[in-house]
Amino acid sequence: MDFKNLISHCKEYGFIYPSSEIYDGLSAVYDYGPYGVELKNNIKQYWWKSMVQMHENIVGIDAAIFMHPKTWKASGHVDAFNDPLVDNKDSKKRYRADQLIEGYAEKIEAKIQKDVDKAKEKFGESFDETMYRATNPRVLERQQEIDAVLKRMNDALRDGNMEDLGALINECGITCEVSGSKNWTEVRQFNLMFNTQLGNIAGEEGKLYLRPETAQGIFVNFLNVQKSTRQKIPFGIAQIGKAFRNEIVARQFIFRMREFEQMEMQFFIRPGEEMQWYEYWKETRMKWHLALGTPQSKLRFHDHDNLAHYANAAVDIQFDFPFGFRELEGIHSRTDFDLTEHQKLSGKKLQYFDPELNENYVPFVVETSIGCDRMFLAMISQALKEEKVPDADGNESTREVLKLHPALAPVKVAVLPLLKNKEELTSAATEVFNTLKKHFNCQYDEKDAIGRRYRRQDAIGTPYCVTIDFDTLENNTVTIRDRDTLEQERVKIEDLAAKIGPRVNMASIL
Ligand code: GAP
Repeated sequence: MDFKNLISHCKEYGFIYPSSEIYDGLSAVYDYGPYGVELKNNIKQYWWKSMVQMHENIVGIDAAIFMHPKTWKASGHVDAFNDPLVDNKDSKKRYRADQLIEGYAEKIEAKIQKDVDKAKEKFGESFDETMYRATNPRVLERQQEIDAVLKRMNDALRDGNMEDLGALINECGITCEVSGSKNWTEVRQFNLMFNTQLGNIAGEEGKLYLRPETAQGIFVNFLNVQKSTRQKIPFGIAQIGKAFRNEIVARQFIFRMREFEQMEMQFFIRPGEEMQWYEYWKETRMKWHLALGTPQSKLRFHDHDNLAHYANAAVDIQFDFPFGFRELEGIHSRTDFDLTEHQKLSGKKLQYFDPELNENYVPFVVETSIGCDRMFLAMISQALKEEKVPDADGNESTREVLKLHPALAPVKVAVLPLLKNKEELTSAATEVFNTLKKHFNCQYDEKDAIGRRYRRQDAIGTPYCVTIDFDTLENNTVTIRDRDTLEQERVKIEDLAAKIGPRVNMASIL
């Protein structure tokens, strides 16, 4: 399904609405609707259970969004949390300079792909793509240009050389997609933190930031948590919470938002052991994604070309979104950067006494950080399908179905009386609903023909529909319809919860 249809599906079926839509929305801010909040909560629950409750050496916290402003000085965000921005003077449209250059490189890559596809068609079975890419002169020339442009961009980003980024945009002849002109301003650094003011202090003194990552709430609480829980290194602190970034270019729906939610875990370790834990968390996090049934072909690791100011190794888990492979999660070896900087600026020791080594040290940190909204987009874009299925009369009809993992599905079971105006059926169905709702998130629906009700449940991803019919009144059995196979199974009412439970509960993927 294309991306536009996915966005309309999310709105039509109560997953995601544009924020303050009656005022024409607020760019890159979204509200989650009744099914959206359930799916999002299930994603968070899966993360929390597997990261916190399944690990004896990981504990959770919920730190405040506002933090002492010195936090962001120490973390480097005041000085270095910038994106390079450039404006087109004719359209007044603002761009991220690096994204303009990457877009230019992607266009060349698309030309290469076109040549590859043509050659594939021409040579058929005998075509060797690797050989073709390695030897075809036109492909090689284009690949060299991509490599050179991206290398120069990465060098400029690393060195903070805005002048060279501007020069690169001009030399590549990049045009504005709105005005079509090459009339660019200089490239400038733009700090991504939102700020606000404390009520009782005027000026710079009272300046507060909305946290751009949840991680710092964990670092500043490192000793509080370690002492109050008596954890020994290695141990982790996890948190789920909102983060805010004044993104220059916010697009692609909930992929890049200005207000979003992160699920982060900082794992505190002995200095020198960071690479082994980095590998451990890379593997563990990839398994977490695969357990949801996401095919390996939709996920890949991507090493960072430019390391953030705090990291000595960093990798993304990328997901194949409708607009290509992009970052879904980051795994970073953050060294002792954050704790050391907080130690310096606060004057408070943030050290751990290691009883086995009999020494004090500032722990190193490996972090796993995933955007909850991006995970939501990954799950919904992978699950939403348009399919031909037989309808009640045996004819073929089209359905939109969300094939979410049952453990993530917003509604687990829909309870449907076959007919609305037969009191015996509706009261039996209500009884079943009242029993099942204690176990799962259920929905009772009696409106419209049964086929339409099935379609509604398919569209929100409900894995099971339980139908109460005239046989139910005779023998206390109901049918369970499986969303994916469309198979119907006759089951005793008393066995329903036990039958459905193992298929929809989180335990199946933990
Ligand atoms: N503490 C490390 C950190 O914040 P990051 O790579 O900047 O690292 C981590 O962000 C994750 O947060 C990303 O992998 C992504 O899933 C999510 N994320 C970052 N910016 C986002 C945005 N503007 N909108 C939605 N999700 C975002």
